[in-house]
Amino acid sequence: MLKRTLIWTKSLRLAHWVMTFSVCGLLITGWFQTHVVSFFQLALDYHYILAYLLLFSLGIRLYSLFANPRSAAGWHDLLPSRSSLPGIGAMLRFYVSFGRTPLPQWYAHNPLWAPLYLLLFFLLLLQVISGFLIGAGHHTLIVNLYTLHDNVATLVGWFIFLHVLTVVAQELKGGLSDISAMIHGYRIFIIEKPEPDQAARKVSLDSIKQHNPH
Ligand code: HEM
Repeated sequence: MLKRTLIWTKSLRLAHWVMTFSVCGLLITGWFQTHVVSFFQLALDYHYILAYLLLFSLGIRLYSLFANPRSAAGWHDLLPSRSSLPGIGAMLRFYVSFGRTPLPQWYAHNPLWAPLYLLLFFLLLLQVISGFLIGAGHHTLIVNLYTLHDNVATLVGWFIFLHVLTVVAQELKGGLSDISAMIHGYRIFIIEKPEPDQAARKVSLDSIKQHNPH
């Protein structure tokens, strides 16, 4: 039996897709700034607009992390726990075997990726802060801000590449429309119907009557 349940709230979905658009745009405009000198100023202007968009989406997402910590959008769902360990192990086996082992079931976040999403929010915040500091003319704050901004951008780029690769693999293997769930909010769960009790089915009304004549 299949059950559709609303998991991803409107604000989480809005944050996800605005974040996707802004982060992809920031990576592209960042690349243009360092690789195509004639586009430097234009790329920088768009880089700033996209940075404000990223800040907006991060604001929504970080707010929902703390507004309702026990919901699917709350920080609690992103922390690994004892009960998520079997799911993490099963996900690792799934990736290492290139999708040959069964995909585990989970409620909201993929158990292996959940803590990585928390790390991503931290990295994106670091990018916004270091980017605005560079824009304000600062070069160093404990570390070289240019090197930090550049290295974290590379890390975020790899994160997105692997994220998209794995959600597509998840969709292909699971067949449960997890990508469209990030659009309409509803995840699909396979609920196993309990087997009917065989002994109960064999009892006839007549035999009950014989034992209880009144
Ligand atoms: C810059 C690009 C992207 C970023 C930064 C990003 C970020 C995230 C984050 C943070 C989550 C966890 C949900 C949350 O707690 O907010 C997530 C989940 C998800 N994303 Fe993305 N995403 C990106 C691109 C994409 C794309 C292009 C797709 C579709 C092809 C996609 C599909 C999904 C799905 C299906 C989930 C749920 C996965 C799960 O945990 O089971 N994402 N993404």
